[in-house]
Amino acid sequence: MREDKGMDAADMGTDLQQVLISREEIESRLDDMAEKIDADYAGKDLLLVGVLKGAVYVMADLSRRLRRSAPMDWMAVSSYGSGTKSSGVVRILKDLDTDLTGRHVLIVEDIIDSGLTLSWLLGNLTSRGAASVRIATLLRKPEAVKVEVDVTYVGFDIPNEFVVGYGLDYAESYRNLPFIATLRPEVYGG
Ligand code: IMP
Ligand code: MG
Repeated sequence: MREDKGMDAADMGTDLQQVLISREEIESRLDDMAEKIDADYAGKDLLLVGVLKGAVYVMADLSRRLRRSAPMDWMAVSSYGSGTKSSGVVRILKDLDTDLTGRHVLIVEDIIDSGLTLSWLLGNLTSRGAASVRIATLLRKPEAVKVEVDVTYVGFDIPNEFVVGYGLDYAESYRNLPFIATLRPEVYGG
């Protein structure tokens, strides 16, 4: 069952500093989140909206745990910023195929850092006439609490460090790690 095993830290050579959240911890937390979502949306018509590309793994593993039908759609966005700081000005690279009028939308995200992207997205999707728009994220960094964005489902609060794995990349690498890890600063020139 090679494909079920995936990478472990040793496969990454010396790039990784530390495994922050193991695969087992992620899976057990997703169980809890799915149970809450099932209860909260009972009898409601739920639409999952994933943000490409980072949310691919969370979407797959979270949606699979729901005991209900949950259609999904995807958006791709890029945030304009000066250098490494996100400005909160967001451009839609790929829009939804779905009309949101009257839908109960749950945005599924990998991580909230500054919160600027999600706070924009929340406003944007709400303005399309959705009945409700909520957020589920696997990870949240402390900076996120500074921005006014109400996150209903949070997997883990993590320290303000750059992390990779389970969808999160550095220069498009490391997304397929089945766990969350920190990179050695040398790898990203830190
Ligand atoms: P923000 O919340 O608007 O600052 O933007 C969050 C986005 O930045 C996420 O969707 C990720 O794509 C990216 N991001 C933030 N922190 C990390 C990290 O630690 N590793 C990889 N990507 C990150
Ligand atoms: Mg993202």
